[in-house]
Amino acid sequence: MANLIITIDGPAASGKSTVARRLAEVLGASFLDTGAMYRAVTLAAMRAGIAMSDEKQLVSILNRYKFRFEAREGGMAVYVNGTDMTEQIRKPEVTANVRYIASSAKMREKLVEMQRQFAVRQRKMVTEGRDQGTVAFPDADIKFYLTAEAIERAKRRQAELQANGSSQSLEKIQVAIEERDKSDANRAIGPLKPADDAIVIDTTNLNIEEVVKKLLGCVNPALWKGGVNHRLRR
Ligand code: CDP
Repeated sequence: MANLIITIDGPAASGKSTVARRLAEVLGASFLDTGAMYRAVTLAAMRAGIAMSDEKQLVSILNRYKFRFEAREGGMAVYVNGTDMTEQIRKPEVTANVRYIASSAKMREKLVEMQRQFAVRQRKMVTEGRDQGTVAFPDADIKFYLTAEAIERAKRRQAELQANGSSQSLEKIQVAIEERDKSDANRAIGPLKPADDAIVIDTTNLNIEEVVKKLLGCVNPALWKGGVNHRLRR
């Protein structure tokens, strides 16, 4: 397992991905975007035309398709059967279907296993998702949970969509975000919630730089307090 594991969990569009990427960059750590894994499997299932509610068929996707997740400058590249799908997995139709994979206990088990395999190959890692501090890496060195008010998150998602050339009304985006929050928080396995020992940060009134600064303010003292630093020296 990696010598240093930092988990960042939180709801949709709370800024986790950007912050996690920046933090990883500053710390010279690998970055794992676990949402991209859920998205990649969702996209493959959609392309295979299987019934999204059929768990057995969903699980078979993991054997029928080859998934590869690779650290790339500025983020994580996703390949399905050797084809770069990094852009496609962000499409709204994938977002709308991801809950089928996210609420399947078997799929979650398999994906958490893949996340732990990824961690074994890294020296330092910043991982982000919904269940990284609670389920995937309960012994992580430092755990964060980022939140923000739904309207603020909707504005951030709208700006992101606009930057990618698509547009949607703020109202529609907020409704979709709130629906996903509900389904993420209410599932039986790996629900969206802060770990008991997570540092919770409300980012509603903070920009990315301010959040990264806050996180670094927590990480640095922890790194030098002994435990983590000692393990890093090995
Ligand atoms: O970017 P955004 O926050 O909208 O979503 P994402 O992080 O790409 O994750 C997409 C979906 O995957 C989430 O709504 C969750 O349902 C699911 N997910 C999960 O269940 N567990 C994770 N560790 C990561 C994502």
